[in-house]
Amino acid sequence: MVLLDGKALSLKIKNELKLKVLELKEKSIEPCLAVILVGDDEASKIYVQNKIKACEFCGIKSLSYHLKKDITQNELLALINTLNYDDSIHGILIQLPLPSHINKDIILENIASSKDVDGFHPINVGYLNLGLESGFLPCTPLGVIKLLKAYDINLAGLDTVVIGASNIVGRPMASMLLNAGASVSICHIKTKDLNFYTKKADLIVVAAGCAHLLKADMVKEGVIVIDVGINYIDNKIVGDVDFENVSKKSSYITPVPGGIGPMTIAMLLENTVKSAKNRL
Ligand code: GUN
Repeated sequence: MVLLDGKALSLKIKNELKLKVLELKEKSIEPCLAVILVGDDEASKIYVQNKIKACEFCGIKSLSYHLKKDITQNELLALINTLNYDDSIHGILIQLPLPSHINKDIILENIASSKDVDGFHPINVGYLNLGLESGFLPCTPLGVIKLLKAYDINLAGLDTVVIGASNIVGRPMASMLLNAGASVSICHIKTKDLNFYTKKADLIVVAAGCAHLLKADMVKEGVIVIDVGINYIDNKIVGDVDFENVSKKSSYITPVPGGIGPMTIAMLLENTVKSAKNRL
C-alpha cells in the first residue's frame, strides 16, 4: 500500500509557485486573492485562515473581507461588483456555505468568470463539462487529479466511482475523471446499493461528508482510494473512509489529514497565479 502524500506534494507545488510569483512581480504583477467570509461558522473561519496563510507563504497578496452574517444579498453583490472591476485583484473566493437568506447561485454567477479561482461560475463549469481546458477548475477535484498524476496513476480505462454529487467536489470530480478517460459512476444519498458500485471499482473518490462510510468489505483488493472527507469526531479529524481497514486492501490511499486537504489549498494558489498570468 502506498500513501498518497498530499502534504508533501502541496509543499512542492507551493515552493514552485513562490518562484512564479517572484517572476510575475518582476513584471509588475502582484498576484492578489480576495477572500470573502460571511458569518461566524467556525470551520469556515479555519479554512479561510489556512487559505490566507498559504497565500502569504507563496508571496500572494490576500485581501480578507469578514462580513456580518446578516449582510443582505445586495450588499454582498455590491462588494463582488467592486472586486470584479478592481484590476489589482486576480481571484475572488467566497467561502461556502453562505447564510440561508443569500442565494449562493446568484452570488457565484456574479463573480467575474475570469476571477473565479474556485471554478464555480456556470461558464467555468460549462468549460469543464465540455472537456475544454479554457476555464478554472474547482480546487478539490483538481487536487485529486494532480495527486494521482504525481504518482503516475493512469486513469484511462479505469472503473471509477465518485461518492457524493456536490457542485464543489462530486460533480466536477466525475467530469475530470471522465475527461481523463475513466468510466465513472456517481453515487449519492439516494443510491440503492452503494456496494454494487464500490466492489468492482478500480478507484473510489469519497466526498460524502460521512465519517467511515467506506468500509473494507465494500472494496476489492488493490483498489485506489481518495478520501475527501473532513469530519470531526472527539475533536479529531477523520475522513469518509475507514482508513485502518480499507488501507489493508488498497494499492494507493490518501490519509486524512495530509491527503486532499492541503492539495485543495495548493490548487487555489495555482489558480490565482494562473489568473494573474492571464494579465501578461
Ligand atoms: N466550502 C467548502 N469547500 C469549499 C471550496 O473549495 N471553496 C469555497 N469557496 N468554499 C468551500
